[in-house]
Amino acid sequence: MADITAPAQRFAAVPPIHIQAPTILVFDSGLGGLSVFREVARVRPDAHFIYAADDAAFPYGALSDAALVARVREVVGTLIAATRPDLVVIACNTASTLALPALRAAYGLPFVGTVPAVKPACAASVTRQVSVLATPGTVRRDYTAGLVREFAGACAVTLVPSERLASLAEAAMHGAAVPDADIAAEIAPCFVTTPQGRTDTVVLACTHYPLLLDRLRAVAPWPVSFIDPAPAIARRVASLIGPTAFASSPKPVRLVSTAQPLDAAMISRVLERQSLPPEVIAPPLARAS
Ligand code: DGL
Repeated sequence: MADITAPAQRFAAVPPIHIQAPTILVFDSGLGGLSVFREVARVRPDAHFIYAADDAAFPYGALSDAALVARVREVVGTLIAATRPDLVVIACNTASTLALPALRAAYGLPFVGTVPAVKPACAASVTRQVSVLATPGTVRRDYTAGLVREFAGACAVTLVPSERLASLAEAAMHGAAVPDADIAAEIAPCFVTTPQGRTDTVVLACTHYPLLLDRLRAVAPWPVSFIDPAPAIARRVASLIGPTAFASSPKPVRLVSTAQPLDAAMISRVLERQSLPPEVIAPPLARAS
């Protein structure tokens, strides 16, 4: 069929092409953002990447709303000044569902957030029983309630706060032995049986959880679809900064934390990318409350 779009409109729909490789800052409270980074790096393998973990304040799920907004605003501001990114990915649901408006107002850069994938989960569920597994912070947000109101449709949505799963994922990434029973206990409330059917879809609404995906599948009481939003976030990044213009080999990732230096060898393995020597950038006023 002929394309009847006016030439000017077609041109406007094409994302900008950066002749120079863009600089992308991926930010989380800890290691969870690596699950997002992997996918973003697939769509822009040529980019200069900074991975930043605010591990001095981990876990974000335990902070009050006011403390979290102040903290994220300050740490991200310090990181922007230090690394001059073209785009920032807030690879953390707990921060994105609360602090994105403050970040966008404070810094004139494109921000891509990570929020619970309620819409695709409810569209895909056959039994219409969907669970959203998240930190206590993300579960209690108005933003999350709004997503459920707007996108649940005919689905019953169970919000499941997990106190420990992000910390268990951190421990597992650092090589600690995390018992199956501990993981099983955190996800158990996601598995709901009703006369209409049982849960068939679980939204992983904390970026740490996809790092444990194999173990979640292994301990699940029955098979479900676990929804990881990372591929959709990567598509959003590509729509904002365009696709890779020229092939180039992956550059070493710059690793930044606010407490101890990140474990560069472990992160290089996860990302299949070399890293620069890890740095600690701790803003003097950004203390966890
Ligand atoms: N990775 C973060 C998220 O997506 C949360 C972990 C934390 O509590 O700091 O919500």
